[in-house]
Amino acid sequence: MTAVSLSERIVVVTGGANGIGRAVAEVAARDGARVVVVDIDVSAGQYRCDVADGEAVAEVFGRIVQAYGRIDVLVNNAGRNAYFDPVEMTEADWDEVFAVDLKAAWLCAKHALPSMLAQGRGSIVNVASLHSRLTAAGMFPYAAAKSGLVGLTRSLALEVAGRGVRVNAVSPGYTRTAIVQDYLDRSDDPSLERRILDVHPLGRIAEPAEIAEVVCFLASDAASFVTGAEWRVDGGLGARFA
Ligand SMILES: NC(=O)c1ccc[n+]([C@@H]2O[C@H](COP(=O)([O-])OP(=O)(O)OC[C@H]3O[C@@H](n4cnc5c(N)ncnc54)[C@H](O)[C@@H]3O)[C@@H](O)[C@H]2O)c1
Repeated sequence: MTAVSLSERIVVVTGGANGIGRAVAEVAARDGARVVVVDIDVSAGQYRCDVADGEAVAEVFGRIVQAYGRIDVLVNNAGRNAYFDPVEMTEADWDEVFAVDLKAAWLCAKHALPSMLAQGRGSIVNVASLHSRLTAAGMFPYAAAKSGLVGLTRSLALEVAGRGVRVNAVSPGYTRTAIVQDYLDRSDDPSLERRILDVHPLGRIAEPAEIAEVVCFLASDAASFVTGAEWRVDGGLGARFA
């Protein structure tokens, strides 16, 4: 058996400046990786890039391969929530949500895969969401984009399975980051946070590191027989009927 190790792996994490992505960067570095953060927020340094912009992604991934020699792992983590009314929402709003939450994962894979395929080795982990299976009112059309991301995971996994590259998805439930804080702040119900905690079988929401551990496991050779899979990391919320 192989222990979880990312020793000397070049690991690119999109949205790695904050929240879950930042935790992925920290856990990957602990596991021996050379971590490359790609984000629109460069307060944490490294590469500035809007992952929804195809030209920018091509340019930045080209610079990364030049600087590091290759890409071994891609974590497509950058994402945003959506809170649209299906009637009021414009086509531009729709395109913006899907560009960040779905198209960006393909764009980054498109520009990371040539290096992985040339080595005959690589691993892509897409950060989807519990919303790929279940959802909540008021978050249109987030579930559609995240379900699409899980479909992309399956589809891409089969395309590259014979060439040494694995592709998986991790679907977090509620995780303590700015996205969840924003969700709570939008509500005028002061009991919302208590009610969220109450429906969790583990009695709490996740810390970003608890999602990151699963992402890094799937990224590593310890998960060598896992591909095309979606792993829920939701404290049991998605198992619950009552
Ligand atoms: N927090 C949760 O409860 C939760 C639950 C399920 C899924 N997720 C998913 O996890 C991922 C990370 O979420 P988080 O909670 O850490 O959010 P966050 O807002 O804390 O961090 C997101 C990061 O992505 C970056 N980013 C956003 N748009 C970008 C773009 N176009 N190009 C490059 N970088 C961009 C932001 O600057 C930020 O650093 C997202 O895909 C989100 O949908 C989060």
